Amino acid sequence: MPAHANDLAEVLAEAFRLFSRGVADRRSPFRTPTIATAGPDGAPSARTMVLRGFDPAARRVMLHTDRRAGKLVNLAHTPRVSVHVYDARAALQVRLSALAQVHVDDAVARAAWGAGVPAGRACYAISPAPGTEVPAPPPAPSDTEAGFANFAVLALTFDVLDWLWLDHAGHRRARFAWAADRSLRAAWLVP
Ligand SMILES: Cc1cc2nc3c(=O)[nH]c(=O)nc-3n(C[C@H](O)[C@H](O)[C@H](O)COP(=O)(O)O)c2cc1C
Repeated sequence: MPAHANDLAEVLAEAFRLFSRGVADRRSPFRTPTIATAGPDGAPSARTMVLRGFDPAARRVMLHTDRRAGKLVNLAHTPRVSVHVYDARAALQVRLSALAQVHVDDAVARAAWGAGVPAGRACYAISPAPGTEVPAPPPAPSDTEAGFANFAVLALTFDVLDWLWLDHAGHRRARFAWAADRSLRAAWLVP
C-alpha cells in the first residue's frame, strides 16, 4: 500500500508532487490537464492545455494561451475553472476548482515569454485569430516575436482539490478545501 492510502496529509503531498512533476516530465499525465470553463450562456467547454508551472505554497497552476482564444471570453465572464487530470496507469483522477487570473503584457507575461522557446512563441503570431473559420488551413507562423501581443498567462489559484484513487483493496476519495483565511479542511469522501 502506498503511504497515501490511509493518510490525508500524504494524499495532498502526493497530489502536489504529481503536479510538480507534470511541469518537467513530458510523459506525465499531469503535463496536459483538461481545463474546463463556462461560456456566457453557462455551457461548459473543456480543452487540453500544457502545465507550465505549479506553486504548491500559492496553490497555483500556470498555463499559457492566446488572448484571442475563446476560453478568454469565457474567463472574462466567469473566472472559475475546473482542472482535470486522469492518470490511467495510477488509476488516479485529480480535480481542482480554481479562480483564474489573466496576465497580458505585464511582468508575469513578459517573464513567461522570455522563458519560452522560439518555436513556442511563433504559435502566438498566427493570423487570423484562433478559432476563426478559414477556407484552408493557414501556414504555420514563423515570426517568433510578433506574437507577444497575443500571449497570455493564466494563473489559476485553486481552493478545492478532489482526489480519487481506484484500488482493488478499496477506492479512496479525498477532498481538500481551503477557506479564504487559508485554513485547510481535509476529509475522506465516499468514493
Ligand atoms: C497536447 C495539447 C496541448 C495543448 N496545449 C495548449 C496550451 O498550453 N494552451 C492553449 O491555449 N491551448 C493548448 N492546446 C489547444 C487547446 O486544447 C484548444 O484547442 C485551444 O486552446 C482553443 O481552445 P478554446 O477555443 O477553448 O480557447 C493544446 C492542445 C493539445 C492537443
